[in-house]
This record gives sequence, C-alpha cells and structure tokens, in this order.
Amino acid sequence: MQSSRIVWRIDRSGSLARLQRVEEPLGPPGEGEARIAVRAVGLNFADLLACQGLYSATPRGSFVPGLEVAGRVAALGPPRAGSGHAFAVGDPVIALTRFGGYASALNADVRYLQPLPTGWSFEQGAAYPVQALTAWYGLLGLGNARRDSVVLVQSAAGGVGLNALAILSRLGARAVAVVGSEHKVAFLERELGVPRSRVVLRDRKGYARSLDQALKAADASGFDIVFDAVLGSWFKPAFERLAPEGRYVLYGAADFVTPGARPSWPHLLSRWLTRPRLDPLSMIAENRALLAFNLIWLWQSVERVPSAYANLAALELKAPHVGARHPFAEAVKALEELQTGRTVGKSVLLIDESP
Ligand SMILES: NC(=O)c1ccc[n+]([C@@H]2O[C@H](COP(=O)([O-])OP(=O)(O)OC[C@H]3O[C@@H](n4cnc5c(N)ncnc54)[C@H](OP(=O)(O)O)[C@@H]3O)[C@@H](O)[C@H]2O)c1
Repeated sequence: MQSSRIVWRIDRSGSLARLQRVEEPLGPPGEGEARIAVRAVGLNFADLLACQGLYSATPRGSFVPGLEVAGRVAALGPPRAGSGHAFAVGDPVIALTRFGGYASALNADVRYLQPLPTGWSFEQGAAYPVQALTAWYGLLGLGNARRDSVVLVQSAAGGVGLNALAILSRLGARAVAVVGSEHKVAFLERELGVPRSRVVLRDRKGYARSLDQALKAADASGFDIVFDAVLGSWFKPAFERLAPEGRYVLYGAADFVTPGARPSWPHLLSRWLTRPRLDPLSMIAENRALLAFNLIWLWQSVERVPSAYANLAALELKAPHVGARHPFAEAVKALEELQTGRTVGKSVLLIDESP
C-alpha cells in the first residue's frame, strides 16, 4: 500500500531556511508498525536546534524534524512475531518519533504509541509525551523530587517547565519558577496561582538577589533541586544556592540560541568559552551534585518506552497547556516564534486532513 504524504524536510542541518514542504511517497507499515494519519505535531526547542545543526543527535544529511505527533491509526503492518497488536485502525493515538514527526502521515513502531487519553484533543496529545517525559525523568528519575523538596525550575512557563510545575504540584513540593519575560510572570500567577514571591524574572542585574528572596518566600535556605535547560551565566548563582545533598539537573543550553535562521557562531564561541566549570573536589566537600541528560536516548531503547509511558500515566497529569497553534503549512513561522523565547506552554502544528 504505497501512498503519498506531505512532510517538512531539510536537506542538511545548518539553517532553518533550508526547511522545505514537499510531497513524497510513504511505503506500507512494516512488521510491528502502525501507519498514523497525523492530526497534530508537537514542536520542541530541539527541532529548532536540530535544523540549525546544534543538536548532537541530529541525523546526517536529509531528515524530517519532529519528535512527537498525535493522530489516528490508519493501517497496521503484520504484528511482530509472538505479539499481537494493541491498536486497531481508527484508534486515536500519541506517538514519539525519533525525528520524522513533521509529516501528514508516518509509520511508527507500535511500542512508541500510546492511546490518546479520553477527553484529550489531538493537539493536547501532540503536546504531551516529549516534554512530560523530560520533566518526569529529570525531576523524578534523576532529581529524586519528593513532597518536601524545594525546586528551582528554569523556563517554568515553557513546554517542559509547565510539566515540571505540574509534577511538583502533584508531589506537593515547593517550586520556585524562573522565567525570561514579564508576560510569563503574569501567566503563572493568573493561570496556575503561583505566588509572585516564588516567581523570579531572569534579569541580568538582580538574579542572585531574586533567588534569595524566592528562597525566603519558600521558607528554605537552599534548593534541593535545580532543573535547568538555559545554562549560561544563570548556572552559577543557582548552583551556589543548592542545599547540601542538592542536585542540579541540567538538560539543555538555550542561552546558546540567538535569533535568525542560522546560529550565530561568534555568540556560540563566546558562550562556549565562558561556559560554567565545576571543581569535582569542591562538589564532594559541599555535597552538591550535577546530573545531566538527553532523553533522546530513550527513543533508541524502544523497549523502555512503554514503562516510561506507564510511569508518567501514574502521575495522572492534566492535559498540557497548548499556548500556540499553527497550520502545518506554517511550520517555519512556528519555529521562528518558538525561537523568540516568548511562547508559553506548547506550540503545535495542526493538520486538518491527512492525504
Ligand atoms: N535534554 C533533553 O532530553 C531535553 C528534552 C526536551 C527539552 N529539552 C530542552 O529543554 C528546554 C525547554 O524545551 P521546550 O521544548 O519545552 O521549550 P520551551 O521551554 O517552550 O522554550 C524554550 C525556552 O527557553 C528559554 N530561553 C532561555 N534563553 C533563551 C534564548 N537565548 N533564546 C530562546 N529561548 C530562551 C525561553 O523561556 P524563558 O526565557 O522564560 O526562560 C524559552 O521559552 C530547551 O532548552 C530544550 O532544548 C531538553
């Protein structure tokens, strides 16, 4: 069953301007695969970094970006030997994709699929797996967050950030939220009821003082966990405010990003040269740890994906906040908006009907 589909393809990484919308053939789903007629694509900051050539896991040469979609099962390949199919044609599903998600249709190993939760829209489904799994793994898998933890969350109004706040609220932990712009402070107060005293605006001058004030408001003398994907000069003041036994969980470096289709090499060089450095001996003496991860490795261990989904489901998170919706045809515009750093929650691409 050969059919055609529309994808956003880039001939090689290096510039957003190389992304092209093209029609191409799609073969039948293989053994253990499902064909998904995609209705919504979740955008991730990593898509932007992949197109610009700043993401280590990016495929060489031509690729279709995209790490997650939601849609309906349109066809099933033969089941894998010794197992039946857990899905039927027509089922609404969410899928992780190791690249390839910016597509109107795709074939995916069924182990990357999970049913769309009842009552969720396709856009909410596409907004869910990557950022929720990232927050889950970083905070619970590495950070060991607990009911009494005090946690600093960088980019708290972003996709991963809102999931982090939701998980911490579920645990009953105390979060201090850091954001880069005033409208996000207002969003967190208005939509989530985060008290202003626990929201830090990341400004160059008063950052360290603001962290101290927020710690005071949280009735704590240090952070048990810092959850950060910004890095830059924001790293050190937060690391220094880790409580003994505190864990700094680092999972990105958005501070390296500048506006424009291509990366700014002088900016990257200056960030690289001034990147924070730690002395492991003082980490022992001060009893503070740095942990770092890239969740893309989970995609390669597909047998671990179903249990990761199950762990996440056990948290019973509400449907994610979709802050921006764009037609599929406007993927580049949507990525440019994400690149501004001003978006709140998740950005998604919507596909009305698959061909
Ligand atoms: N390691 C992993 O496995 C993994 C998985 C998923 C995501 N990530 C990383 O986690 C972060 C959040 O991802 P996301 O997809 O949920 O994106 P997002 O939070 O919706 O957007 C990224 C945020 O980064 C902040 N930022 C800081 N400096 C920036 C700059 N120079 N340019 C643009 N934005 C800047 C902005 O928020 P504020 O200004 O409010 O801080 C922006 O909204 C990203 O850095 C991403 O690469 C890592």
